[in-house]
Amino acid sequence: MKRPRKSDFPVSQVRRYLEPGPIVLVSSRYQGETNIMTLGWQTILEFTPSLVGLMITAGNHSFELIRGSGECVINLPTTALTDIVCAIGNTSGSEIDKFASFGLTAEPASEVAAPLIGECHASFECRLHDDALVERYNFFIFEVVKAHVAKSPKHPETLHYTGDGVFMVAGRIIRRRSLFRPELLDWSAPGGTFSSRGCRLGEVAWQGSRLLAWRDPRSFVFQNAFAGVMARITGQAAAAAARCLIVWPETMWPVAAKIWASESSKSLARR
Ligand SMILES: Cc1cc2nc3c(=O)[nH]c(=O)nc-3n(C[C@H](O)[C@H](O)[C@H](O)COP(=O)(O)O)c2cc1C
Repeated sequence: MKRPRKSDFPVSQVRRYLEPGPIVLVSSRYQGETNIMTLGWQTILEFTPSLVGLMITAGNHSFELIRGSGECVINLPTTALTDIVCAIGNTSGSEIDKFASFGLTAEPASEVAAPLIGECHASFECRLHDDALVERYNFFIFEVVKAHVAKSPKHPETLHYTGDGVFMVAGRIIRRRSLFRPELLDWSAPGGTFSSRGCRLGEVAWQGSRLLAWRDPRSFVFQNAFAGVMARITGQAAAAAARCLIVWPETMWPVAAKIWASESSKSLARR
């Protein structure tokens, strides 16, 4: 079976793959035992920290392994793995070794003990962030601490379960960027990525070593100046309306600092 080559991917952007609600394969390891389960009830909860919620029924063998270790890996299968997705979701790790039985490759993760599934398009290493809802709802809140994604295809053919043994398949892409408020979009510009998400008021946040997110609550003059800079650099007039939360690629910080200084002194002079 094909094993796509995966590269590092920003954890704050795993929503790109999970927000459409695909079926995932959750791998786990505890006290030397490894397992996989199929899971459809997952949801993105936050960009930074990168939080994902999983509903894992307590009767599943995976529940014990994940509860015990406080870790798992969320793997994204495509239609190439449809029959294996069904088999994994209809057998128990208390009876069989699912990696061996279904010919899957357990690859070492870098931040958790649970293995990545080599044959999947993407793998997100997770650590338990909050277990407040586990007792009552079997709902685990995980932080994605490392993400690995195959470079192509850009839009993998993922499985979306509708119940009763029937899946829908991801396919057609519809673009409607022009109908979105700027702060709801990811900004792409020559030299890097702009994103209007990922940090709260007054926070300065690193995303890996590449990006800086800045939201400055002290002066709305600065905020407007910053939005102005973004508009100029991206050439998107609509960005002028963005509400001040901007992520700069590191290579552009010196340019940004210069323009920002000049824009804010102009704004102050106008006051
Ligand atoms: C398409 C599909 C979706 C599933 N979604 C979930 C889910 O969201 N949560 C869950 O607890 N079990 C879900 N299951 C059931 C588990 O995958 C199943 O109980 C599995 O046998 C558990 O394996 P384990 O006992 O080795 O952990 C799903 C199964 C299938 C086939």
